Amino acid sequence: MTSTLIRGRLLSFTRAPHAIDDSAAYSYESDGALLIGDGVIKASGPYGVVKAAAPDGVTEIDHRPHLITPGFIDTHLHFPQMQVMASYAANLLEWLNTYTFPEECRFVETAHAERIAIHFFDEMIRHGTTTATAYCSVHKASADAFFAESLKRDMRMIAGKVMMDRNAPQGLLDTPQMSYDETRAVIADWHGKGRNHVAITPRFAITSTPEQMEVAKSLAGEFPDLHIQTHLSENRDEITFTCELYPEAKDYTDVYARYGLLGPKSLFGHCIHLSDREADAMSESGSVAVFCPTSNLFLGSGLFPLRALTRRQRPVRVSVASDIGGGTSYSMLKTLDEAYKILQLQGERLNPFDSFYMMTRGNAEALSLVDRIGTLEPGTDADLTVLNMAATPAMALRAEVVNSLADELFLLQTMGDDRAIVETYVAGKPVKSSLDAN
Ligand code: GUN
Ligand code: ZN
Repeated sequence: MTSTLIRGRLLSFTRAPHAIDDSAAYSYESDGALLIGDGVIKASGPYGVVKAAAPDGVTEIDHRPHLITPGFIDTHLHFPQMQVMASYAANLLEWLNTYTFPEECRFVETAHAERIAIHFFDEMIRHGTTTATAYCSVHKASADAFFAESLKRDMRMIAGKVMMDRNAPQGLLDTPQMSYDETRAVIADWHGKGRNHVAITPRFAITSTPEQMEVAKSLAGEFPDLHIQTHLSENRDEITFTCELYPEAKDYTDVYARYGLLGPKSLFGHCIHLSDREADAMSESGSVAVFCPTSNLFLGSGLFPLRALTRRQRPVRVSVASDIGGGTSYSMLKTLDEAYKILQLQGERLNPFDSFYMMTRGNAEALSLVDRIGTLEPGTDADLTVLNMAATPAMALRAEVVNSLADELFLLQTMGDDRAIVETYVAGKPVKSSLDAN
């Protein structure tokens, strides 16, 4: 086994921080090291201690003075929407119909899907994101392209072939039977291959008939360990249309509940306009509400009530995500910067420790994957992000007067983007620098 010793300042969370001064929520090593072997973290701690226990002649990589965190995790995005980002539309439904659906039709072509997959993984690495939960298109070829590229790069990724059989162009529709057969085929071909996870992915209630929702229910019953992802309560017109399509349901959340789709492995994108009853149903089932700040602002969908959901008597689990291509940045730093502003507009705060917790351990917990990713704990995957708070001239100037870890994190979140990512490690290998070298 070849080992590597990675030296730098280390930050890893043990739980959610309750306040900006809640230093018991994280461990911080001002001169730390990680011993990496076989793609996992073997040891983590002060440099002197980890070095003393490392094999003789271990390769050392010195990232001082930079900060090493667990690789960032993005819990909701659309891989076929890289060329949809920055499309000018008034609202969600116009944006879907005018730009997004036509673009996704192109993923019937294997060559196109394979080309975009390469760009997708390059962007993830450039931005320090080592795990993402992705929607592919309706075409199995898009999922094949996604997972093949993920396997090649040995990344821990969650993704699904989208199920949709109505209210979209013909080139983007499957049928209930096709969606069953192809989802099963994607599971057989890719789930557990390398670090790939397959998610059951009905796009949203508007684009699935009740017959297809029955299929999603069957798949969820047959594969109870799989993640389920869909969209919920993003936009007022979307909610009205959904309730018209499913008049027997109490509300939008109840549509998914009726088909057995709520649960601890279920990720619901957006959840901006939930009623109290719906939030209770989310809470009781352990479902996750996915906060997509840049997308919610860009599409004018609304202000995600983060604190109202997490601080209620029956709290709702939450995660955070870019929602590319409704979202406007691949960067989780920029995503949390916009999250901060959304909370400001609601008279709430999002402290920088909370932000960094959310994009690492918090998102790992939301995905039920904290035993593998999201921390610097020995035994977990060596997926890491190395950050430079002085990455640009403007950041360097601001960094001159930074005098605490909180200040540094807030500077990174507020002014940082891919330029602040010095290196990204995937399963112990430095991959951003090799991208830039090509
Ligand atoms: N609802 C259904 N599909 C989508 C999508 O692709 N993006 C967003 N933001 N919302 C959706
Ligand atoms: Zn989405």
